[in-house]
Amino acid sequence: MMIFEHPLSWTDENIYNEIYKNSIDHNEQFWAHYKKYIDWKAEGITNVCYNCVDRHIKALAHKPAIVWYGDEANERIELTYEDLYKMIIQIAYILRRHNIKNGDVVGIYMPMIPEAIASMLACARIGAIHLVVFAGFSKQSLNYRLTESKAKAVITVTSFKRGGKKIDLSKNIPSGIDVIILDDVSYTAGITDYIEWQNTDDDLFILYTSGTSGKPKAITHSALPYMLYVATTFKVIFGIRDDDVYFCTSDIGWITGHSYITYAPLFYGLTNVIFSGSPTYPTADRYWTIIEKEKVSIFYTSPTAIRSLSTFNNDYVKRHDLSSLRVLGSVGEPINKSAWEWYFDIVGNKRCPIMDTWWQTETGGIVLAPLRNLNQKPGVAGKPFFGICVDIAQNELTIKNKFPGLCKSLKLPYKTGDEAQYVNNDIKINGRLDDVINISGHRLSVTEFENAISKLDAIKEVAVVAIPDELKGQTAFVYIVLRYDNIETNVIVNTIITATKTYIGAIAKPDYIAIVPDLPKTRSGKIMRKLLKDIATGNTEPLDTSSMQNPQIIEEIKHISNDPIFCPDFCKIKC
Ligand code: WT7
Repeated sequence: MMIFEHPLSWTDENIYNEIYKNSIDHNEQFWAHYKKYIDWKAEGITNVCYNCVDRHIKALAHKPAIVWYGDEANERIELTYEDLYKMIIQIAYILRRHNIKNGDVVGIYMPMIPEAIASMLACARIGAIHLVVFAGFSKQSLNYRLTESKAKAVITVTSFKRGGKKIDLSKNIPSGIDVIILDDVSYTAGITDYIEWQNTDDDLFILYTSGTSGKPKAITHSALPYMLYVATTFKVIFGIRDDDVYFCTSDIGWITGHSYITYAPLFYGLTNVIFSGSPTYPTADRYWTIIEKEKVSIFYTSPTAIRSLSTFNNDYVKRHDLSSLRVLGSVGEPINKSAWEWYFDIVGNKRCPIMDTWWQTETGGIVLAPLRNLNQKPGVAGKPFFGICVDIAQNELTIKNKFPGLCKSLKLPYKTGDEAQYVNNDIKINGRLDDVINISGHRLSVTEFENAISKLDAIKEVAVVAIPDELKGQTAFVYIVLRYDNIETNVIVNTIITATKTYIGAIAKPDYIAIVPDLPKTRSGKIMRKLLKDIATGNTEPLDTSSMQNPQIIEEIKHISNDPIFCPDFCKIKC
C-alpha cells in the first residue's frame, strides 16, 4: 500500500523518505489525498472562510478561536469561534454595503488585533482580494500599494496603542479611496451570512514584497490551492493536534501572519494566541508570560526576537512554567548557532524540537523544515516538503516543480535568491545572494533604500549595502556623496533617516552612514556595490580593483568605513 500520510511522517527519516518518494512519483494523488481534509461545497468549489470558521461553529462554538494580548499585561480579549464568526459576518456585511464584490481588492492597514484577522476572513468570505499592508509601513508605501493594486477600499482603525503610545493609522490613508473604519465592530442580530463560493482560479490575496528592483512586487495567491498548501504543511510539519494552543509572534502584514496566523491554525479549529505589543514592554518576559498563562504548545517566532530576548537575563524565561510547549518554530532569516542553542536549552528546556522553517512570500507556505525530533542540527532547515523538488544550482536554492502554495506567474525552475548547501542529506540556507536586505526577517531591497535617499537634494550619489548585524541579522550600511560640502553631519543623518522612514517605513532605518568623496565605479560608470560590501563587512581578502575607474579612492573609503556614523535603533525588535 502506498502511503502519503503517517503520524511519524515528519519525525522519522525512513518514513519521511518513503512518503517523499511517493509524493514525487505520484504527485497528483498525493495532493488529492490531502484535499480530503478540505470541506468542499461541490467538487473543486468551496470558500476559505467557510473552512476556517463556519465549519467549526457547531462543535467549537465556545472554544476560544483568538486570544489577543495587547500592550499591557492585563489587556486580554478572547473570541470564541462563534464570536469570530459574528465579527466576520458583520465586517462582510459592511464591505458589501460599501459595494465590495467578488474580485475587488480591499486594503487592510491594521495592527495585530482580532478585527484584522476577521477582516481578512471577511474578504475571503465575499470573494474580495485582500491586500494587507504592514501597519509599520509609511503613508507613501501604503499609497503605492493601494494605487498599484487598484484597491477599491481600505480598512483601518483610528485608535490603537503600541508600546504605550497611541497611534491613529487612518491618518496615513491617501485621499480618494473609500475608508472603512473598524474601531468598533458590533454584531447586528439577524444579519445575512452571505458567502461567495470560490473555485481554483479565484484569488485570495495580494501581498507586496521586496524584489531586487526599487519597486515592491505584488505576489498573488489563489484561494483554494493556497489553503490546501498551508493546511497540509502546518499539519504535517508541526504535527498539529486538535488541542494545540498555538502562538505565532508574526504580524498579518507579512506572509507568515497570513499563512500561519490567519489561515492554518483556524483551519484546524485551534486556539490561536496573538499579541500586538512589544516583547520587551513593559518587561522582557511578555512572550513567556503569555505561553505560561495560555498553556501554549506551539510557539513560532523569528531569530531576531530570539537573539534580542536572549540578551536579557535567563531568569526572565526561567521564572515561567513553559512545560506546555511541545514544538518551537523559527522563520524569516537564518538562525545562528548561539540563538538556536539558547532557544533550545532555555526556552524549550531541551525537550522541544525547533522547526527552522524556510520559505518565502512567493511559496505561500513552508518549503524546507527539519524533521521534528531531538536530533536536529542548529541552523539546518532540513528537508523539502512532500511533493516539492528542489535543487542547489550554483549555490542557489532552486525549486523545480509546481506545488499548490507557489504563487501565480512564476516560471520554473524558480531561483529563490537564497544561497544554500547540502549538509549530508539536509539543506542549510546561508542567506540572500541578491540585493535583498533581510532586516529582522523583513525583506527590503537595497534599491528601495537608494531610491528613498537619492530623493534628497543634498545627496549627489548613494549606494547601500547589507552588512551582518548581531541582533537584526542584517542592517543597511549607506554610502553617500554629498552635493554641497557645507552640510552639517547631524542634519544629513537626520534627513536620511527621515527619508527612509517616510518613503519605506520605520523598519527601514539604516544603522551606518559613511560620507565619502566618491563611490567606487567601473570604467563604464557602474557603482561597485560588491566592493563596498567587502569594505563595509571588513572582508580582509584582497579587493579586486582591476576594472575600477577611480582606484585611488579605495584607501579613503576604507578609512571612513572603519569609523562610520552610527545611528542605533531605539527599538531593535520586529514591531
Ligand atoms: C526570505 C523570504 C518565510 C516567511 C517570512 C519571510 C529568508 C525565511 C528562513 C529560514 C533562512 C530564511 C530567505 C527568504 N528566510 N525563512 N528559516 N532560514 N532564511 O518571507 O519576506 O518573503 O522573505 O526570508 O532569505 O528568501 P519573505
